Amino acid sequence: MQRPLILGIETSCDDTACAVLDGDGRVLSSVVSSQLAAHRPYGGVVPEIASREHLANWLPVSEQALAEAGIRTAELDAVAATRGPGLVGALLVGLTLGKALSFALGRPFYAVHHLEGHLYSPFLDPATGAAARAAAAAPQRFQGLVLSGGHSSLFAVHDGRIETLGETRDDAFGEVFDKVGKRLGLPYPQGPRVDELAERGDPAAHRLPVPGCGDTLDFSYSGLKSQTLTEIERLERRLGPLGTAAGPAAELPQPALDLLAAFRAAAVAQVIDRLERLVRRPPGNGGGTDGPLAVSGGAAANRLLRRELPAWSARHGRELRLVPLVYAGDNAAMIAHAALLRHHRGLVDDPFAAEAESRIPI
Ligand code: KG4
Ligand code: ZN
Repeated sequence: MQRPLILGIETSCDDTACAVLDGDGRVLSSVVSSQLAAHRPYGGVVPEIASREHLANWLPVSEQALAEAGIRTAELDAVAATRGPGLVGALLVGLTLGKALSFALGRPFYAVHHLEGHLYSPFLDPATGAAARAAAAAPQRFQGLVLSGGHSSLFAVHDGRIETLGETRDDAFGEVFDKVGKRLGLPYPQGPRVDELAERGDPAAHRLPVPGCGDTLDFSYSGLKSQTLTEIERLERRLGPLGTAAGPAAELPQPALDLLAAFRAAAVAQVIDRLERLVRRPPGNGGGTDGPLAVSGGAAANRLLRRELPAWSARHGRELRLVPLVYAGDNAAMIAHAALLRHHRGLVDDPFAAEAESRIPI
């Protein structure tokens, strides 16, 4: 176990998470307590409920994280918590706990940007506890793709400096999966379920849009969403109701599975399109072919995406680092890891200055 030992806290949305990392980025423990059951009756995350759940979950989650890591609170060398973006009430719980803990222990504090956590998460090793291995050193230069419920973003990272190359213009990648699934009455979070159902469909049954965003590397999913919802209505006129926002869909008929497969194929095709454009960009403009592509975020669990990305990587001879599935969704190991990288660069935050913010540039 290398010093410093860092406690990470993540409460930006509906997962209460706590992790302990050592100075080599070994994940000594990573505990994530999901609030799915509390939000499921509403079909999505209710901010007020999320904050209250974080408060109730924090003690058992942090006690478990420390016990699994085999350390006592007093042995921690630093504390890190997510400062945003996310739900402000939810962020405030974790951020305030983190500040209080760092103050009480007299240890440095790191207020971490949630996307910075995702961005470096592909370099974490999936083994935890006794089997934990050091994180791979993040290269000086790499490009990062983060796909989550709130973001579809492309970044270029040089020596710790993060430049945004492309961003969500409307619905994010994960969000559009959630909305399509919700329309079919699937339980929250709909993204993984839509992905699973799409495996059983034929994507060739529909042609859905893969829009560009001019010369930019931005993402736009609202057109795909509208057209998919229109196609669902058309199917319902033929086949009867497929599901309601209030209740779970009955077993979906084959034409609906085909539509989901076509929807997923178009969503993933847009990602691959942006990566093709990225490769064509001249070096110095965020493009070029140096450094690996690191892919992360909850929606990086998408099965089709995980099949298509290695093909893109082989086509262009680009190294690909796909986030280990355990660190795709929100977790605190990635927050402690981002803090550790800042520590290695000699940075630290003032706990009294850190504020929770719903939207902040990276
Ligand atoms: O990173 P994350 O856990 O939370 C945010 O920061 O948003 O991402 C959650 C998002 C949700 O929208 C969820 O439906 C989506 O990722 N997601 C998926 C899949 N697994 C999770 N979307 C598509 N396919 C999946 N397999
Ligand atoms: Zn996230």
